[in-house]
Amino acid sequence: MTVEWRGEMSVGNEVIDDDHKHLIDLINEYESAIARKNPVILEDAVNGLLDYAKSHFEREENLMTAVHYPQRNLHRDHHRDLLRRVQDFHKGLCEDHQIDIEDASRFLHDWFVQHVLNEDLKLRPYLTGERHDAK
Ligand SMILES: [Fe+2]
Repeated sequence: MTVEWRGEMSVGNEVIDDDHKHLIDLINEYESAIARKNPVILEDAVNGLLDYAKSHFEREENLMTAVHYPQRNLHRDHHRDLLRRVQDFHKGLCEDHQIDIEDASRFLHDWFVQHVLNEDLKLRPYLTGERHDAK
């Protein structure tokens, strides 16, 4: 199952949407690295994903501050948790020699899609300027 960007994922900001599209590419690269079971490729893929996710989260957090998004602290905690979840998942993957690619694929899909649909989309009215009620 590869992750695909869909219009309903748009947060109304081109920079963030482009970031999300690039993150999807990196997630899919990581998934195919898992399937290939080559430790060097796997390590590169997870580091590429984690590095980009960190810089993307930072961009998103700066934007949340700029638009005075009221739930920004909570959202920042979600980002920390997301990074930790990939690190834990990867650690488990390296220790487990019976990798179930479908489980891995499901994890990665949910990891990204749930956050975008449940959390990032809440930013949309603030990023588009529809709402500026926040302090
Ligand atoms: Fe986010």
